[in-house]
Amino acid sequence: MNIDHLPTPLYIAHRGLRARFPENTLPAFMGAGDAGAQMIELDVTLSRDRRLVVIHDDTVDRTTNGRGAVSTLTLAELSQLDAGSWFDPRFRYARLPTLAQVLEAVRGRLLVNIEIKPEAFEPDGPDNAVERQVLDLAHREQMCDAVLISSFEWRMLENIRKRDDRIALGLLSERSADDRLRDWYGRLQAFSWHPDYRVLTRPQVEEFHRLGARVFPYAVDGAIDTLGMLAMGVDGLIVDDPKQMKE
Ligand code: G3P
Ligand code: MG
Repeated sequence: MNIDHLPTPLYIAHRGLRARFPENTLPAFMGAGDAGAQMIELDVTLSRDRRLVVIHDDTVDRTTNGRGAVSTLTLAELSQLDAGSWFDPRFRYARLPTLAQVLEAVRGRLLVNIEIKPEAFEPDGPDNAVERQVLDLAHREQMCDAVLISSFEWRMLENIRKRDDRIALGLLSERSADDRLRDWYGRLQAFSWHPDYRVLTRPQVEEFHRLGARVFPYAVDGAIDTLGMLAMGVDGLIVDDPKQMKE
């Protein structure tokens, strides 16, 4: 399976099926594959020593036994934290993975939607800016055909597009489609649009299909209207729970 030949609807596991597993950990991503997901969604940002670490929040407080901002902790410090017990003691062995560890674990088995956290954006970023590192890693791991890079910070996607005219890019948005989104979609030659499911309408799905885009709405606060989304003709769903795909 690669990004150019996707099943429809594509089953995308949000942070690795976060309703069933400790989000953004290797057990979550492997479990999502076992549950039938074809793609995992994860969040990536930079540690203090500028390494790519997979975590959703700006701090480690909610999803580990540590405290503090991710950007103030080194990868060595982050890697020691227990990222599973908060969810269920069965997962106490789970750690915050690096992006490289995730790509290596799922290679050949799952597609990967890499969401780059907007907080990591540095407008005049150095050579090892987060988006540059993500792109380099996808190339180094020879997984460019298996990854879809998305962000709410579209300027990061633009920096990637300047360096790679083929890799698949997805525009994340909390708002309905507007002229700004249409403009950026064209500028980036994006692959897909990833809206908050609550703002999506059928005419917008049809419009983005005419533009050549895939539409992948995401679950919010554990909820998504699977049947409503599928009736609108979306190409896939970013879901928290396997039940949301089985309806
Ligand atoms: O990529 C879709 C979704 O993950 C965006 O929201 O906050 O869960 O990263 P969030
Ligand atoms: Mg995300």
